Amino acid sequence: MTTHHVKDDQSGADLSRINFPSNFVWGCATSSFQVEGAAHVGGREESIWDRFCKKSGVIRDGSDAQVACDHFHRWPQDLDLARSMGLNAYRFSIAWTRIMLADNATPNQAGLDFYARMIDGMLERGLQPWVTLYHWDLPQSLQEAGGWENRATVDAYVRYVDAVTRVFGDRVKHWITHNEPWCSAMHGHWDGQHAPGKTDLKSALQACHHILLSHGMAVPVVRRNVAQAQVGIALSLHPLYPASASEDDQRATQRHDGIRNRWFLDALAGRGYPEDVWQLCANERPVVQEGDMQNIAAPLDFLGVNYYFPEAIAHCVERLPFQAQVVHRADRERTAFNWEVAPRDLLPLLQRLQNDYPFPPMFITENGATYEDVVSADGRIHDVERRAYFQRHLKVVKQAIALGIDVRGYFAWSLMDNFEWAEGYQRRFGLVHVDFETQQRLIKDSGLWFREFLLGDESGISDS
Ligand code: FCB
Repeated sequence: MTTHHVKDDQSGADLSRINFPSNFVWGCATSSFQVEGAAHVGGREESIWDRFCKKSGVIRDGSDAQVACDHFHRWPQDLDLARSMGLNAYRFSIAWTRIMLADNATPNQAGLDFYARMIDGMLERGLQPWVTLYHWDLPQSLQEAGGWENRATVDAYVRYVDAVTRVFGDRVKHWITHNEPWCSAMHGHWDGQHAPGKTDLKSALQACHHILLSHGMAVPVVRRNVAQAQVGIALSLHPLYPASASEDDQRATQRHDGIRNRWFLDALAGRGYPEDVWQLCANERPVVQEGDMQNIAAPLDFLGVNYYFPEAIAHCVERLPFQAQVVHRADRERTAFNWEVAPRDLLPLLQRLQNDYPFPPMFITENGATYEDVVSADGRIHDVERRAYFQRHLKVVKQAIALGIDVRGYFAWSLMDNFEWAEGYQRRFGLVHVDFETQQRLIKDSGLWFREFLLGDESGISDS
């Protein structure tokens, strides 16, 4: 059921491309596992997500990503669509499983060739390639040796990054080492919602440490192989609020912020892991070797901010060790995923990053929403809520820039509907609708709005 709650002050009427810097990066994002399919083509190895999808009950609709959007074969058309919406950048991820053979030492030429063609296709279309080097699809062979809990995976990752950046460094300048380490570490090893499906905080913190370390070890490798490299990392960051004014809830919010946000931000900023969190997880803390924290804090060229929703936090004695829990706020506007819609909260988040940390420029590397899309009688998808979602968030980005916050680009999640991890195909985030039976693509009204917004008169659209 679709509800169209778009208040007047939420429309994009007063939003104009010229209010953003002329060199602002306008992109959309995808990730390899979620869109590529072609799971057995070109010597692609099995990933932890291929394996995870085979477990019963873990993917809501019982699906997998063997075919997904078949982007592996259909990327020319998909890049045409991105370009037609006036975007000038495409953030995509490279599947480690296509790049390294099972020995995790030898590059796979077929995989390199595939991405070479796609990257050339971006450049031909005026789309700046933004590569995410790791968007959760670890080779299963590495998982069998302990995955991210095993320090040797850091070395394997650096070998993979070296192989990729050597080949593409001439054409790709923007590199994101990891997408949302919180998710790969915590959903993967603490709550078990993601591959590899473990449920142990100690494993999660160890995996997390190795993921961050692999980031830091990869940064100089990217710089060595890529002239004028721009290297960053994309974090999922959440504005947090106490569920009530009680001191207990306020302290719980601090603790939750410690593990959810500061654990990553402080480490990357060279402050080490936050002391309060370190004390709380005395039994679960990771093994950290001499020099690791310095390596994690390798200087960045940009910080990628993935923004989706804020959280309200309450004190909860049972939830050890942080004694904090997320509370559902019934009065909040939500997407079909039950995520709170809170564009205004993006501003204090960006202010915090700018004021409390010495980070370089920021890019919104993901922002988007899932709603129940319906193909109307006129053959179009009038996703007014998603369109308003983008407009409202962009207004806040505009405001942030006006306040002097250094945000240099915005990537909509996602170019097209795709395999939404544990939710399967039921959560549609695309600017482009995908019919997963026929693989037909259809630009939604939100995508048409981007086209009009970015191209104006050149868009050839008379209405929106
Ligand atoms: C982010 C992920 C991305 C997608 C969106 C909806 O956490 O980075 O792959 O699943 O959420």
